[in-house]
Amino acid sequence: MTNFAVIGNGAVGSVIAHELKSAGKNVRLFGRQEQQIILSLPQQVKLNVTSLVVNQEKFDYIFVAVKATRIAEIKSALNKMCHDHTVIIVCQNGIGQLSQFDMAPSFQAAVYISGEKNGLRVKHFRDKKLVLPDHPLMRQLKQALSDTALVIEISSSQLTIIWYKMLVNLGINTVTALSKNTAQILELSQVRDLVQTLLEEGILIANTHGESFTHEVVDEIMAIYDGYPPEMGTSMYYDMLEGRQLEYDFIQGEFYRLARLYHLTTPVLDTCCTLLSAYQYKKH
Ligand SMILES: NC(=O)c1ccc[n+]([C@@H]2O[C@H](COP(=O)([O-])OP(=O)(O)OC[C@H]3O[C@@H](n4cnc5c(N)ncnc54)[C@H](OP(=O)(O)O)[C@@H]3O)[C@@H](O)[C@H]2O)c1
Repeated sequence: MTNFAVIGNGAVGSVIAHELKSAGKNVRLFGRQEQQIILSLPQQVKLNVTSLVVNQEKFDYIFVAVKATRIAEIKSALNKMCHDHTVIIVCQNGIGQLSQFDMAPSFQAAVYISGEKNGLRVKHFRDKKLVLPDHPLMRQLKQALSDTALVIEISSSQLTIIWYKMLVNLGINTVTALSKNTAQILELSQVRDLVQTLLEEGILIANTHGESFTHEVVDEIMAIYDGYPPEMGTSMYYDMLEGRQLEYDFIQGEFYRLARLYHLTTPVLDTCCTLLSAYQYKKH
């Protein structure tokens, strides 16, 4: 029987593991230590978490759902979990991390699973969708998961979808993290102006790199933000409040790196990146 591992017992990993288990799949959810967590969907289910470091088993499919900042920590355990035909699905925001998964064929999913982890509790807010690149191994996976409640989509323009998510994260994550305030800051016209300029600079970078977003995407993304509840935080906002390392290198940092590569003028992005990287300086 095909076996599945999910590494990371947080908002994304818990939902994936639960849906695989509910469909009768052979799945193990891995975290830092043996424990039991409670997932609210909103009905509450208990999930057993196995310690990643003591694992001896090998898996056919491994979903990686730790934050991108934690990849180095899990690499040696991940190496031991792979056999000759293992396939890795990296369920993370950001761009640039895939090259770190050289132990098996690896694919990044565009993740549409929204939730939040707090101690031993995970709350699922909405969506259970992964968009995967068009590749025979991903079509096989879609088939293998067809009897689960996860929505698996295969898209030939999946990279564009990941770039679109990058833009969505660039605007709201940056300003909520730097202001340490929730989505309510978009009620301020100066913040809206700043976010719109950030998005315009982000589109310039993405398009120079090969995408072709139109200017209307700025309004589209602003409309997405306007649908957020004012009290909503972002993952970068919560990471900042908790003093944790940010997924900066894989989101804003990737835009910044490409802006340098293509000699683009992006003053608002540059200022935000200076402050975000200063936040992390000598802290982690
Ligand atoms: N949450 C969302 O709504 C959402 C939506 C779309 C995309 N994403 C993306 O999905 C990815 C995962 O996010 P998330 O929100 O699920 O993160 P999360 O809630 O922080 O969960 C990550 C889990 O990984 C565990 N972990 C960290 N380091 C580990 C290690 N060395 N060994 C074993 N387990 C380890 C964490 O345990 P500890 O808590 O003990 O550190 C935590 O349980 C991120 O790239 C995020 O940007 C998230």
